[in-house]
Amino acid sequence: MIKKGLAQELAVQREVLCFDKGWSFHLGDIPFPVVRGHSASYRNAKAGHAGGAAAPGYDDSSWRVLDLPHDWAIEGRVDPEANLSQGYYKRGIGWYRRKFKLQPEDKGKHIELQFDGIATHATVWVNGTLLHRNWCGYTSMYIDVTPYVTYGDRVNTVVVRVDADAQEGWWYEGAGIYRHAWLVKRSPLHVQTDGVFAHPVCRPDGRWELPVEVTLYNSGKQSADAEVEVALLSPEGKVVKEGTAHAALTPLREGVAKLSLPVENPALWSPETPILYKVRTSVKQNGCTTDEVVTRCGFRTIRFDKDTGFWLNGKNIKIKGVCNHQDHAGVGVAVPDALWEFRLRKLKEMGVNAYRSAHNPAAKEFMAACDSMGIMVLDENRLFNTSPEYVRQLEWLVRRDRNCPSVILWSVFNEEPMQGTENGYEMVRRMSDVVKRLDTTRPVTAAMNGGFFSEYNVSQAVDVGGFNYQIKSYDRFHALNPDLPLTSSEDGSAFMVRGEYVTDRSRNLMDSYDTQCANWGATHRDAWKAVAERPWMAGCFYWTGFDYHGEPTPFQWPSVSSFFGIMDLCGFPKMAYYLHQAQWIEDKPVLELVPHWNWPADSVGKPIKVMALSNADKVKLYLNGKLVSEQNVDPYEMNTWMVPYKPGKLEAVGYKDGKIVSRKKVETTGEAYCIRLTPDRNSLMGNGCDAMPVTVEVLDRKGRHVPTACHPIEFTISGPAKIIGLGNGNPNCHEPEKGNKRSLFNGLAQVIIQSTEEADGEICLKATSPGLQTATLVLPSVRKSIASFVPSVAEPLMLDKWLISPLYSDKPDVMQRVAENDMNSWQPSSGEINISMNKADYVILRTSFEPKSAHQKHGGKVVLRQVTGKAEVWLDGTCIGTKESEKTADFTVTFSEAGTNCELRILLCREKEKNVGMAGCMLKD
Ligand code: GAL
Repeated sequence: MIKKGLAQELAVQREVLCFDKGWSFHLGDIPFPVVRGHSASYRNAKAGHAGGAAAPGYDDSSWRVLDLPHDWAIEGRVDPEANLSQGYYKRGIGWYRRKFKLQPEDKGKHIELQFDGIATHATVWVNGTLLHRNWCGYTSMYIDVTPYVTYGDRVNTVVVRVDADAQEGWWYEGAGIYRHAWLVKRSPLHVQTDGVFAHPVCRPDGRWELPVEVTLYNSGKQSADAEVEVALLSPEGKVVKEGTAHAALTPLREGVAKLSLPVENPALWSPETPILYKVRTSVKQNGCTTDEVVTRCGFRTIRFDKDTGFWLNGKNIKIKGVCNHQDHAGVGVAVPDALWEFRLRKLKEMGVNAYRSAHNPAAKEFMAACDSMGIMVLDENRLFNTSPEYVRQLEWLVRRDRNCPSVILWSVFNEEPMQGTENGYEMVRRMSDVVKRLDTTRPVTAAMNGGFFSEYNVSQAVDVGGFNYQIKSYDRFHALNPDLPLTSSEDGSAFMVRGEYVTDRSRNLMDSYDTQCANWGATHRDAWKAVAERPWMAGCFYWTGFDYHGEPTPFQWPSVSSFFGIMDLCGFPKMAYYLHQAQWIEDKPVLELVPHWNWPADSVGKPIKVMALSNADKVKLYLNGKLVSEQNVDPYEMNTWMVPYKPGKLEAVGYKDGKIVSRKKVETTGEAYCIRLTPDRNSLMGNGCDAMPVTVEVLDRKGRHVPTACHPIEFTISGPAKIIGLGNGNPNCHEPEKGNKRSLFNGLAQVIIQSTEEADGEICLKATSPGLQTATLVLPSVRKSIASFVPSVAEPLMLDKWLISPLYSDKPDVMQRVAENDMNSWQPSSGEINISMNKADYVILRTSFEPKSAHQKHGGKVVLRQVTGKAEVWLDGTCIGTKESEKTADFTVTFSEAGTNCELRILLCREKEKNVGMAGCMLKD
């Protein structure tokens, strides 16, 4: 029988609620209590009865309260005893807990809890039941919590234990719930998470089509006939095409609805024109919309050709890519969404058109930014393994990202020792098939650094061969495998420290002239030349765009972050940035000069190496107005001069076709005089999430940037914002990345600020340093609350796991002994209690619990909600209160202290043939 109101419940449309706020956090492990004795062992094995910190009633009142995303590793200090690969940051184990309520109207909906990324191994309990274990620090968890949650006044508890001692990489991985969490409410009949596959294809005859595949789920009790309406919306929001499909779903089963929409002359997506369409998918049952989801897609063609490399929309282009890890100065891996935009913008300005998310899936907000900003993605899986759990991780990645026009390649691994073996080949063959079952529109690659010439090797199981380094093997491999399209999947690994111009390995410093690289790598210039000169090489993915914590190759402590970046950890350009601009940007003049011109007095007369990075034909160099010399630009090597130092002005002038197209000057500055703060944007959204980097530098009296300044700076912030991280790009710096102090490194530092959720207001950031003029930055914050989030509730200890005695006609001994191994004469019950008394008059409820430490010391209240019948309340063998009236009412008793393990018994007594019961019970202050 269909319950009244079900039709309405079915018509509920999805709510996607942010679940980031108000988590309680404990750093360190909390061992589970030792389980002893029959009764405890019996209970311990039951759903809903997790013990220790996983128990809903655990006392977390002393834990720190914080919002996600959170990375606890970066909050610590670097430690020479910790792992260099992880940036010498300690990781360890941590616990998170969060309480929330669901509305009575939510009953009947499908409720899903989602975590986008937890580093590294996570165990999740909801209301005392272990619901999920995730053994990958880079994949999402979608957990159907519908059977476990409660509604109305009753509180739900989510607990996450995070083991960040588990490592999956050789780079900084962070620790904790470092991506967003969500609570999604949907109708029982709904589109599954990541359930819409809508990726346009261009048929061989040039006609465009949008095949749409919608995976539905029916968690309801009745079979359902779903009508699925799909509309393609233009970038302006107009309906371009519509179609309908059907699927029949029995309860607790999936169903797939498929259709295809022909599309005429779509506007094409490309890095220059990242045009996105929307796909609106509505699910209807009996004419009522039960779910609606909007996804994005883009129209573009891609092709990897064995002779000519990469083609986008019929145009042969080189992939100018960079590899990156996902951390940033000051915030570690807990990167606010706004910072993705900042980082991608810096890369685009450098001429990058592609990004390899090394060596793991990126955050979904990052993928969305690549789509909307026009950056192609080599989308990489983390763990090379074909067992069911790892296949599930790969499937998740493809399902999540297959609508992204930015994704042009799937990579199943990076540098696996089995790459040159039959085992490796068999594994890749299987993983490639896993991908192909879900998406045939992009080729599969694997980033190999060896095994290319073995009889069996994984290049035989991929669509595009991926080379990590091995420049010297490019030609030989191509000659032996002329039919396999090829790309460099990783190259470079050159070293540079921003603003340093002398390599001094005793001080862990690398110069900025592109002279230093790893033994297995190449300089920026050699790596690019090897790709640029071979038409069959689709492109490059330079290691790396940004520095990252950890892997301080070729050094160890005191170096704590990488030297590979084209930009430093903060996103400040090193010389390599301008080098790539000069080589990759064609449509506007590029000209940059290194080094700075602030050399000490004893350098006068000594030759200084000067380098110009330019895309002009010719560059003339002047010192203090006198021509040093002119040189034709070598587009691969660029141009260098040895110039005897003389303070003043060094100037380069770029010529193209005989005309001046660019100028760049570097001047000797005066002493540092004042601090300058430059925000990345003009305002912050006051929603508690928006964030931006602020550049910190010092200027001389004439307002010129002092490139050698290393002053300590202290910050204060007032108004609706806080400082969430600091950095300066120095790989050898050990200053904390949290707090309010940071030294400049070679003229620069970065402070990252984040809005709070107060009313509109002015943010005031002040920077001071002894001897320098203070800088004050005033920025507006415009209040904008997060449209929808689940409030966290700080609730009293709920007592809702009861054992109910047999029914008695005569008043029983409330404290009667029950055998420890008797699990059957008293009936377990949880939550609301309604007891049908038949002819009896008395019943006893009992429960055991551990009071919060404050209650143990100072006592508290036992609050019984809506008790029907008379009641006696007994705590640890003493009657502490009696409810004389049989009317349904709340009843509160106080106690002055309690033990660590308490037993509460409640005798309920009926009158006048009524049943007895209680809506809830809690311990309050
Ligand atoms: C590669 C590896 C990268 C990084 C790089 C440093 O072999 O794929 O993750 O370690 O070397 O040069």
